[in-house]
Amino acid sequence: PKPKVFVSRRIPEKGFALLASECDVLSWNHEDPPPRKDYLTAVRGIQGLFCLLTDTIDAELLNEAGPSLRVVSTMSVGYDHIDVQECHKRNIQIGYTPGILTSATAELTVTLLLATSRRIKEGVKAVENGEWGTWKPMWLCGQGLEGATVGIVGLGRIGLAVAKRLKPFDIAQILYCGRSEKPSQALEVGAVFTSFEDLLTRSDFVIACCALTPETHHLFNATAFKQMKQTAIFINSSRGGIVNQDDLYEALKSGKIRAAGLDVTTPEPLPTDSPLLKLDNCLVLPHIGSATQSTREAMAVLAARNLLAGLQGKPMPCQIK
Ligand code: GLV
Ligand code: GLV
Repeated sequence: PKPKVFVSRRIPEKGFALLASECDVLSWNHEDPPPRKDYLTAVRGIQGLFCLLTDTIDAELLNEAGPSLRVVSTMSVGYDHIDVQECHKRNIQIGYTPGILTSATAELTVTLLLATSRRIKEGVKAVENGEWGTWKPMWLCGQGLEGATVGIVGLGRIGLAVAKRLKPFDIAQILYCGRSEKPSQALEVGAVFTSFEDLLTRSDFVIACCALTPETHHLFNATAFKQMKQTAIFINSSRGGIVNQDDLYEALKSGKIRAAGLDVTTPEPLPTDSPLLKLDNCLVLPHIGSATQSTREAMAVLAARNLLAGLQGKPMPCQIK
């Protein structure tokens, strides 16, 4: 018999077709996630789970699925929503989708940086609200990238791709920090390794490209924002959990830093009454880093391939060890 898999959302057709050709697929065929109780019911007795970053894959869910579950495949590069230890305890293999979304996510990160540094949110609002009186010499002046120091927290695939895309803007230097020094990547972009504190102190733009782990949870807190330049711009396209959002609000409101561009928040979606949204110097996007058509299709296909390989006992194209 074909293995039973659950797909927790409507996904790009190519990925779905791949699964449907080899598996008995049960799918939550909606744009919104299944309520938790429906999710728990749907996973009972499945062999494979195709999940998204919005799904909490924890011991409760794994217990509900039972011992038949052999593979969890997430259509994302981040896997902080999956309890890896609990999976491995049960001999469940985990697949994810690194690499293919690097360009799209780096492009969106640069978009956030350019948009916040040149005050695009205020500019659009002014035009739409009829506040564009005339060309004014000192109106909506932002900060250029030329000659700037850019600090990248986490020089992984995405961090490196961001650095490469920023080089042509004639920035002065790139600093990076992280768990370990990355000499070959650093050499590619001329980035200099330093401590988190030193990076914060010296950077005009601080870009978070690190995964959410216990070590990076609330890494960007009041202390961190205080160490940054008053003119610094903070960009986050990784996970909302690396930021203490109350502290960020306070830093933006009181002028401890100049602006922030966020593609990720806590929670997601960010409630429309969030104070962050009232700030002119805070631009928030709805977690669309990887959202190009071709990237999302490639992610669905890779996640499907990971799931099929795992179910067939073959090496996954991209497995979390
Ligand atoms: C997006 O945030 C991802 O982890 O793929
Ligand atoms: C992070 O997940 C990266 O690929 O850089």
